[in-house]
Amino acid sequence: MSVPALEILGVSKDFGRIIALRDVSFSVMPGEFVSILGRNGAGKTTLLNIVSGVSRPSEGKVNLFGTDPGDRENKAKLAVISHEMFLYGNLTAIENLEYYSRVYNVPDAKKRIDTVLSDVELTHRRFDLVATYSRGMTQRLTIARALLHEPSLLLLDEPFTGLDQHAIGMLIELLKKQKDMDRTILLTTHDLHTAAELSDRYVVLSKHKIIKDGYIADTTPDAIREKYFSAESQGAEA
Ligand SMILES: Nc1ncnc2c1ncn2[C@@H]1O[C@H](COP(=O)(O)OP(=O)(O)O)[C@@H](O)[C@H]1O
Ligand SMILES: [Mg+2]
Repeated sequence: MSVPALEILGVSKDFGRIIALRDVSFSVMPGEFVSILGRNGAGKTTLLNIVSGVSRPSEGKVNLFGTDPGDRENKAKLAVISHEMFLYGNLTAIENLEYYSRVYNVPDAKKRIDTVLSDVELTHRRFDLVATYSRGMTQRLTIARALLHEPSLLLLDEPFTGLDQHAIGMLIELLKKQKDMDRTILLTTHDLHTAAELSDRYVVLSKHKIIKDGYIADTTPDAIREKYFSAESQGAEA
């Protein structure tokens, strides 16, 4: 048996009196693609923040590749794509990527930068200041930045929000390529069809807890919606 890429062991998180997560446990094997589903406020972002080491659990533990998320070596293995852009508006796309190449010691950086810019279709805007980008372009550059150092674990928090149909299709293709390269991927999304198209497994969070951990091959997006996201379903917020 290989070591799980990610183990979440009895994780709870409170913000003062607000409960965000209660005793959440699951593991993700290397190369697995898992979608985290759940209504607004279910605790998805909190969970990803704990996995990336941004936030500490109130109780429980997370292992990334068998070690603590805060460990230095994990930084190089991890990419986070969320609503935080981590880009400098007063630099061009190229300058941003050059900066991150140095931070992550990316080998053959020039070539790698060309590749990721082309992957997100921003080659023609590479010399423009990021401050002049539209929201969708900024988000595409965020994706390029995240993939620059070829991370083995990708955490994506609603990455399709704010992208147009063309960019959504582009990101889906990029994620399929990442999956073919055996990257481990954890995604939160509202889009059950996209989750089903991309994932091997899905985890449903409701009211801070896991109410389902199953394989996509055993279900359909409509069945998931009916069971966990319809007005009558047990996943419904009180
Ligand atoms: N920094 C914070 N301070 C206080 N409450 C928070 C904070 N972050 C999240 N929460 C609360 O934790 C719960 C889960 O939030 P979140 O993880 O953002 O849910 P989701 O991403 O599934 O919409 C919500 O009730 C939210 O208000
Ligand atoms: Mg969220």
